[in-house]
Amino acid sequence: MTTVIDSLASLRDTVTTWKRNGERVAFVPTMGNLHAGHFSLVRLAREHADRVVASVFVNPTQFGPNEDFSRYPRTPSQDIEGLREAGCDLLWLPDVPTMYPYGASQAVRVQVPGVTDILEGAHRPGHFDGVATVVARLFLQVQPDVAVFGRKDYQQLAVIRYLVRDLAFPIDIVAAPTVREPDGLAMSSRNQYLSDTERPVAARIHAVLQAMRSAVQGGGAIGQAEAAAAEALTVDGFEVDYAAIRRRDLQPAGPGDHELVALVAAKLGRTRLIDNLEFDRSAS
Ligand code: PAF
Repeated sequence: MTTVIDSLASLRDTVTTWKRNGERVAFVPTMGNLHAGHFSLVRLAREHADRVVASVFVNPTQFGPNEDFSRYPRTPSQDIEGLREAGCDLLWLPDVPTMYPYGASQAVRVQVPGVTDILEGAHRPGHFDGVATVVARLFLQVQPDVAVFGRKDYQQLAVIRYLVRDLAFPIDIVAAPTVREPDGLAMSSRNQYLSDTERPVAARIHAVLQAMRSAVQGGGAIGQAEAAAAEALTVDGFEVDYAAIRRRDLQPAGPGDHELVALVAAKLGRTRLIDNLEFDRSAS
């Protein structure tokens, strides 16, 4: 059974009781409209703990002025049913005043330097400040022993790792593999915005990431692979924000770097999609 809690006092009582009984608590933060990708995070969380808490909170501080905060899909009953089936014990459902008692614009903010300015951060100014701010609050509210984040949001994971290390949160971060549709499209709540004609085209992102990997593993220059990827996506009808190959810490890769990640962000119609692929330059 999944207990739904919207008061901070009840959340604290429940988690404190579990911990007093020696139970380990895992946490899966989400913005709701849950799909198979989220449920895989819950199942992975279950493997790391005795109790699993998920949160659903559509966080206003991580949306830019022209982004989709108000039309972000909210599907609470469907989410609760899916969480129950995936084995979640508690759903934390804070409202905006609980999360931001002084209001979102007057909130104490958490800013992670460096990794937040590049790639997604360069295209969505302030986005990662909003993510770091809400995740720090969620960690303080839930006080989990372990938290699970998807690898699909690769840069977000890097931001969270930095936050946890720098603020010494006593929380282990577990990275979960990306769940894909049969044609390779990474699962995302935003996929439902795609029209019937856009949906098959969206899967090209994964194919292009694989082509980037093959080009570099075959000895091609990173710059050329990035340019070819941007060109291929543009021909397919995407408006490309970036197609980049970086070191795993998201810094530019030199010739001696082998552990790499290819990342793409591109818009198809009104839908902005991101995906990535980690690879080893010397493997093939
Ligand atoms: O990945 C998400 O869904 C959100 O960015 C998160 C981590 C729940 C913070 O709002």
